[in-house]
This record gives sequence, C-alpha cells and structure tokens, in this order.
Amino acid sequence: MSRLRGFILRTSNLTKRFGGLVAVNNVNLGVKPNTIHAIIGPNGAGKTTLFNLITGVLKPTSGRVFFEDRDITGKPPHAISALGITRSFQVYSIFPNLTVLENIRLAVQASWGRMKWDFLRPVTSYREVTWEAMRIASITGLYARTGLLARDLTPGDKRKLEIAMALAGKPKLIALDEPTAGVSTEEVPSITRLVRRLRDEMGKTVVVIEHKIDVVLELADTVSVMSQGSIIAEGPPREIVENREVQRIYLGE
Ligand SMILES: Nc1ncnc2c1ncn2[C@@H]1O[C@H](COP(=O)(O)OP(=O)(O)O)[C@@H](O)[C@H]1O
Ligand SMILES: [Mg+2]
Repeated sequence: MSRLRGFILRTSNLTKRFGGLVAVNNVNLGVKPNTIHAIIGPNGAGKTTLFNLITGVLKPTSGRVFFEDRDITGKPPHAISALGITRSFQVYSIFPNLTVLENIRLAVQASWGRMKWDFLRPVTSYREVTWEAMRIASITGLYARTGLLARDLTPGDKRKLEIAMALAGKPKLIALDEPTAGVSTEEVPSITRLVRRLRDEMGKTVVVIEHKIDVVLELADTVSVMSQGSIIAEGPPREIVENREVQRIYLGE
C-alpha cells in the first residue's frame, strides 16, 4: 500500500522512447480512487502514449505502473483489463456493421470469457449475456438504440457505445481517450453527464484525455497537464487554468 500512497493508479518515472523521441518522460502520475482525472496538453504531448503504457498496449522503456496493490508494468492488455482497467480509443473501436446490442454483447462475452477463475459461473447462456448487454445499454443511455447498426449512431451515441463496451469488463478504472472528439456541441453534455455518472453512481475511477477546456473544467477533480512527454502542472481545474505556464503552453497565450 505504501507504494500507492492513497492512489488507485500510480506511475513511477514512467518513460517511453520511440528511437530518439521521448514520448513519455519520467511521468509520475497519481490517480485517486473514485475521481475524474483529466490529462490535457497539446497534440503530440504524449497523452495517448501514456494511456498505452498504463493499459499494456505498449511496454515502457523504463519506470513502473502500479494499480491497486499490484505492479502491472509490462503486463499484456488482457491481463490489465482483467485486473480492472479498461479503456476507449481516440479512434472509434466499435463494429460499424453490427447493432448496438451485438457490439455490447461481444464486449460482455469477451470479458466473461476472460474470467477463468470464476468457476462458479456456468457456461454463459445467450440469454444471460443479452440481459447484461441490455443492462449496460440502459445505464449508458442507449436502451432505445439497441437495434440500430452502430454505424448509424450519432457521434455522441458512438462514444456512449464505446463507454458501454468498456463497462462490460466491469472495470474499476476506465480510461477514456477524447470521449467528446467529433461530437457536436449539442451532444457533449450527454457525454459529460455519463462520465460523471461513472464516478458518482457507478463508483468508477475515470482518467480522461480531453481537449475541450470547458468540459475539463466541468468534469475533472484533478487535471494533469502534459507537454513534450512531461507533466508540467497538476491540480484542481480552476488552479490549472490560472497557471501561467499552462496558459503559455496549452492555451496559446
Ligand atoms: N508508435 C509510435 N511510434 C513512433 N512514434 C510515436 C508512436 N506513438 C506516438 N509517437 C509519437 O510520440 C509523441 C506523442 O504522441 P501521442 O502520445 O499520440 O500524443 P498525444 O496523444 O498527446 O497527442 C508524438 O511525437 C508521436 O508522433
Ligand atoms: Mg492522443
């Protein structure tokens, strides 16, 4: 517990090099449980790479990642996801030619198939999986859309579907890479409401990469600002927008 210091997720001197480029440079990130922690910063700052290191998509060059009481550094994505971290991607990761329900069912089946230690669970029936998928559709506001093909959803509903699919794995921590990217101004509030409900009603911890500063201000308990691979500022959103260095680097002032 000492190495976690009250955080559910912590990175220690996490570094990723791509050849000569240091995409993530000695990052010490601490995420408190049941909070929304935003990662902001200009394009190319290393935000997605940091997510890839935390979720096992990439192996770090050096440094460690701790989740709950475990050192998860270098574990493969399926192992990390089984321990309770799931993510969405900056680019849509849904199956466009399947229905909303089929997409969620696949995510439920994938996560149940992973739970090999769950020896009490009988072979999961079609009906059980469908029930669970409908439950998730309902809590993510997609209940009325379950029969639609995913490709026919609005951008906002596509983002909700990604969150729904991430929820299928019953994560403790959910990592969202730009959940409002491509979403119209009118649809953004329904995404922010859903993200807030992940924390407030579902007890999740949320780490979110987000470009829209008003969304960050409204949602985040804590903001970490990345620039050129490093965290250059961290704190509550109101403090962060007043930080001179942040204004210079991120807000372009
Ligand atoms: N797989 C990769 N191979 C080489 N360079 C990469 C790779 N992924 C990202 N980079 C580089 O690392 C830097 C950080 O990228 P990224 O993490 O995607 O930034 P952000 O998400 O903050 O926009 C960029 O310069 C990018 O070009
Ligand atoms: Mg990115």
